[in-house]
Amino acid sequence: MIKVILIAGARPNFMKIAPIIRSIKKHNQSINDSRFTIQEILVHTGQHYDYEMSKVFFEDLDLPEPDVYLEVGSGSHAEQTGQIMIKFEKVLLKERPDLVIVVGDVNSTLASALASVKLHIPVAHVEAGLRSFDRTMPEEINRLLTDAISDYLFTPSPDADENLKKEGIPESKIFLVGDVMVDSLLLNLEKARKSKILEKLGLRKSSSDDCPLTIDYSLLTLHRPSNVDDKDSFLKIITALTEIARRLPIIFPVHLRTRKQIESFGLQPYFINALANERRPTTIDGGVCLLDPLGYLDFLNLMMHAKCVLTDSGGIQEETTVLGIPCLTLRDTTERPITISQGTNVLVGNDTQKIIDEAFKILDGKKKQGKVYELWDGKTAQRVVNIIVNDFQLP
Ligand code: UD1
Repeated sequence: MIKVILIAGARPNFMKIAPIIRSIKKHNQSINDSRFTIQEILVHTGQHYDYEMSKVFFEDLDLPEPDVYLEVGSGSHAEQTGQIMIKFEKVLLKERPDLVIVVGDVNSTLASALASVKLHIPVAHVEAGLRSFDRTMPEEINRLLTDAISDYLFTPSPDADENLKKEGIPESKIFLVGDVMVDSLLLNLEKARKSKILEKLGLRKSSSDDCPLTIDYSLLTLHRPSNVDDKDSFLKIITALTEIARRLPIIFPVHLRTRKQIESFGLQPYFINALANERRPTTIDGGVCLLDPLGYLDFLNLMMHAKCVLTDSGGIQEETTVLGIPCLTLRDTTERPITISQGTNVLVGNDTQKIIDEAFKILDGKKKQGKVYELWDGKTAQRVVNIIVNDFQLP
């Protein structure tokens, strides 16, 4: 029996963990030799804890209830990282797993990897090797450090392998497996098509896929500290959004940290407030419309029907490439360069005019055509599990 702990903590982790758990269950059903069964323990750190940031993803992705909930909650980076290490170490000492699997680049990823290696428990990092080369991003520090201490580095694309080799990581630890988030995307596409979000927002009259949209729209997400913690940077982006929204409404499911910043900077007048908790009508007909954060399936549905996606997220750059939807990334760098070289992504930073120009190109029908990297085929989690099992089978 191979005992594995999987860590999930923040919103972008859940869609990466789900396919791995699914592949573990499939593996267990397919083998006769119980020595190579994988016993999985799901630990939720509680970095994200609200219904919209966590629970709805468990429902949408059919994730099992976590076996352990660390309840760390919000805090400074040091507080959050430290709390996770302290609490997770106790779980490690009790469970003594053979392997800890971490995904992505959030504080929960680094904290749990660090607690594990200190107890000499091997760590597998899924989505290893991505680099924005911008060390002011907290995620870049999390990526660099997690990769430096992991034993299995599962990479999504060849550029990630190159980054790791340049950092002196032995090739024997690096496994190019593809993008586990694409597994979730492809698996949930049909379910997402059935979401009623377009009708709820008055963007379509019927949920039939043949029914055309009543109103075209762009979709926006924004939460990076570099964009929303500084009022001037935030205003540069808002100026562009206001201009774009004159031609096409922008739907903005707003991250909780961003909502706080909108309120503290007094930027509410720039937005049409469609927040559900204010019991306002949620029909979208123009401007930049704020919504509460959405679940996985509703968001996927909105993404697949959008004329254009504007974002500073990491994963959405990949999801739009797979869906063939044009993506403007509101950052100066990306750790996912393959979405630019091969996909539909364009970097626009927070340069007001550049954002407007690139958005108008798309609205004028000049959208970037992309292709999808061959290993983003929905079978990444299966490859991860196979590699782990084979390795543990070796004498
Ligand atoms: C984190 C990740 C980021 C990821 C993002 C997705 C790190 C360093 N950053 O950033 O990579 O893209 O999640 O969402 O790990 N909050 C709530 N309820 C919640 C969660 C957060 O109210 O359930 C609020 C809290 O006020 C918190 C703030 O949002 O202080 C920021 O949350 P935090 O997890 O610290 O970082 P994110 O900005 O969400």
